Parts: sequence; C-alpha cells; structure tokens
Amino acid sequence: MINSSPGRSLIFKILRHNPQDPTSEPHVARFELEEYEGMTLFIALNEIRERFAPDLQFDFVCRAGICGSCGMVINGRPGLACRTLTSTLESEITLAPLPVFKLIGDLSVDTGEWMRGMSERLETWIHETEAVDIHAVETRMEPELAEDIYELDRCIECGCCVSACGTARMREDFVGAVGLNKIARFRLDPRDARDDGDFYDLIGDDDGVFGCMSLLGCHDVCPKELPLQTQIAFLRRKMVRVS
Ligand code: SF4
Ligand code: F3S
Ligand code: FES
Repeated sequence: MINSSPGRSLIFKILRHNPQDPTSEPHVARFELEEYEGMTLFIALNEIRERFAPDLQFDFVCRAGICGSCGMVINGRPGLACRTLTSTLESEITLAPLPVFKLIGDLSVDTGEWMRGMSERLETWIHETEAVDIHAVETRMEPELAEDIYELDRCIECGCCVSACGTARMREDFVGAVGLNKIARFRLDPRDARDDGDFYDLIGDDDGVFGCMSLLGCHDVCPKELPLQTQIAFLRRKMVRVS
C-alpha cells in the first residue's frame, strides 16, 4: 500500500484513440492533477474530463464495484477504476483500455458483446427438463449449496479476467475464466437438467477448459476474488474423467 502525501501531484498517462474517427492515431495523453483524500480513479477521470479533455471516453455506472463497467488496465494490471484509490498507486499512473474487447474509444470497451457471445455459446441459463409450473412450490435447496452457487454468481462480468489471460489474447473463441466459472455455477445447480456429458460438450475443447494454460492471471486480478483457480482445476479433472 502506497501512502500518498497530502496534495501529491499525480501524472496520468492515458492511452487515447477513437476508432470511429479515421484521423485518430493511438497516442498517450498526459494530464496532471492534485490528489486529495479519498480520490478514486473514477473521481480523477471525471476531473480530467471536466478540466482538460471533454471528449475523453470511459465507462462508469454504479461506482461501487457492482456493474462491472469500469474495467481498465491500471499500471499494466486489469482492475476496476471505481474501486481503485489513487493513494494505492505511484504518482505516475498509466491507464489503457482492456485488451481482447472491442475498443469503443479511449478507455471504453464493449465487454457486453463479448459476454453475450460467450453466454450464448455456453447456454448460461437453467435448462429444465419439463415446462415450469409457476404455481408449484420450489424444491428446497440446502443453504450450503445455495451459498456455493451464490459465491460463483458474484461475477460482475467486468472482463478483467479475460484481459489478463494469455489464452484469450490468442484464441478468439476462448470462453475465459468468466465462462468456465459460469459452467461451474450451472453444474452445481440442481435445477439444471444438464449432466457432465452436456457440460463436456460445451467446454471440453481448446476454446474451453483444455485451452486454459493455468496462467492464473484471471485469479490474480478478479476484483470479486472468485475462486477461479479452484473452479478451473475442478472442471478440468471432471472433464478428463468424462472424456
Ligand atoms: Fe470480472 Fe471476476 Fe467475473 Fe472475471 S470472474 S468477469 S474478473 S468478476
Ligand atoms: Fe487464462 Fe486463467 Fe487459464 S488466465 S489460461 S483462464 S488460468
Ligand atoms: Fe460499476 Fe465500477 S462503475 S463496477
């Protein structure tokens, strides 16, 4: 933890590019701000936009680490800008958009399109055998199991794990730790009628669990601290047995 001194001068080096503008060239723009207590990257970026660069693009919705929209590369490491205090960083701060995802402009990327494609490929919804009777009383789930499912459901689809993954950069259709975590979640759910063979069909190839090279960048950067390493290792062991 870096302790800032009051009034520290912060230098921001931000990778800027607008792919919608044919005249735009990727370049690093430099901004200087005075730090104050409690300053987050969200606050800093808003101040930069207000004072120096009204066209600077970046995304924020919740400002509370819930919506997953503010992922960016902060000093070389994917993270959530709204949850990053400038006091935890050196006085020179570099910001870049998350790689792998389509660039919208500057620090804004389209994680939604990627997540949707992955979700459709992995069918990340409960598959029931029969039509649901909405008047039927749901079967009781053991609290421990509900908690295990809830733990994996905490993913906010921020994309940090995908951007930190070497395989995702090389394989366009790799489902990433986020996708593998979703399969682990649905596998646990007793309401889902799919069996291990069905899950194997979805992730038992090089775009799924066998493409993962155990690089563990995903595990290191996940802002929700999901147990990605354990889940991926578990799925791989299971899939080897099913195959
Ligand atoms: Fe973000 Fe973690 Fe979900 Fe990956 S697994 S999308 S890093 S919350
Ligand atoms: Fe990528 Fe994580 Fe596997 S970083 S290679 S998904 S362990
Ligand atoms: Fe929602 Fe950062 S703004 S997670």
